[in-house]
Amino acid sequence: MKKILITGGAGFIGSHVVRLFVQKYPEYQIYNLDKLTYAGNLENLTDIENSPNYTFVKGDITDAEFLAQLFAETSFDGVIHLAAESHVDRSISDPMSFVMTNVVGTVNLLNAAKSSWAPSGFAGKRFYHVSTDEVYGSLHNPDEFFTETTPYDPKSPYSASKAASDHFVRAYQNTYGLPTVVSNCSNNYGPNHFPEKLIPLMIHNIRNNKPLPVYGKGENVRDWLYVIDHARAIDVIFHNGQTGDTYNIGGFNEWKNIDLVNLLCSIMDRKLGRPEGTSAQLITYVTDRAGHDLRYAIDSTKLKTELGWEPSLQFAEGLEKTVDWFLQNQSWLDNVTSGNYQKYYQDMYANR
Ligand code: NAD
Ligand code: DAU
Repeated sequence: MKKILITGGAGFIGSHVVRLFVQKYPEYQIYNLDKLTYAGNLENLTDIENSPNYTFVKGDITDAEFLAQLFAETSFDGVIHLAAESHVDRSISDPMSFVMTNVVGTVNLLNAAKSSWAPSGFAGKRFYHVSTDEVYGSLHNPDEFFTETTPYDPKSPYSASKAASDHFVRAYQNTYGLPTVVSNCSNNYGPNHFPEKLIPLMIHNIRNNKPLPVYGKGENVRDWLYVIDHARAIDVIFHNGQTGDTYNIGGFNEWKNIDLVNLLCSIMDRKLGRPEGTSAQLITYVTDRAGHDLRYAIDSTKLKTELGWEPSLQFAEGLEKTVDWFLQNQSWLDNVTSGNYQKYYQDMYANR
């Protein structure tokens, strides 16, 4: 029986990772540690919440004492660390929350794992840190891709906090021998994506005939990967990745924001029975994001050649599935946009 701690498992990507591990590995005990910030939603996990190999723990990774107690009570074999503040726009208005959760929280978790594991040695243990391609900065030459050896050049408070956390993880491997592995992934999309992010925000606003805010001229490029393919990559890297190594995850799927928004408008027109071109009239160019990175593009060749991972879905199929999921789960979106999801679960866990 392996005991795996997954942090941030009530969030967008974390919930898909938790589901995959709970369903695929009944012999593992999966612990989902999450603070349930505005981005944490246990409604993402209702289908597996009663599984015998799943335990939810409400807690804050910035609380070192709480983590020490948790690791003393439960002897974890592995950690998959996803808990973070994840939205770039929020990092511009409130950088300190990103320092606290992404940097201090990660170091607290490293300390808790090190203290718990060191006395009996690190054999069989693994600390997996989930990071982002944004740590590499912004590409301007169309032939360039981010590889595992691209120098770090973070440009937003969010990416600076993730870069700092990546450095701490590697420093703990180098200094204390903590067995770590890091992955850096491109933009995810799919079911349960929080509607402050581009794709779900656009789907929500198209459905409700609200303006579609495109930053600047809409020329920034992002490299999109279906969230379940990210979860599959995490599974492969957690089990087969080399200790101390880094893996880039991406699907070679670059889109200019404005082209992506137009594509979403067209898919939604078809699905909502609106005349083609109706939703595109909602596009509204707004003030650009401060310090907006121009282009991200991941080279995931290493992950494919060394560990055999490839995306399972083409973008057209993934986007159709995503739009269908949001249209079929309007109550999820309504609960999130109204704030109801927080009231229900926060009351439920208030005293735990
Ligand atoms: P998210 O914002 O949807 O979820 C984050 C989760 O972490 C939430 O459930 C939240 O409640 C929890 N959390 C936040 N602060 C916490 C704290 N102090 N203690 C415990 N839990 C806390 O994020 P996401 O988009 O699912 O991203 C997950 C991870 O993957 C992050 O580390 C992010 O940097 C990374 N990542 C995201 C993307 C993407 O496109 N979304 C791409 C690459 C990497
Ligand atoms: O690259 C991985 C990163 O992708 C993750 O590490 C982050 O956690 C995740 O939030 C995401 O960051 P981005 O800033 O790329 O994602 P976001 O959805 O916020 O924006 C995508 C692009 O769309 C970006 O160029 C900004 C633009 N945008 C975004 C919003 C919310 C708009 O034009 N209008 C909007 O309303």
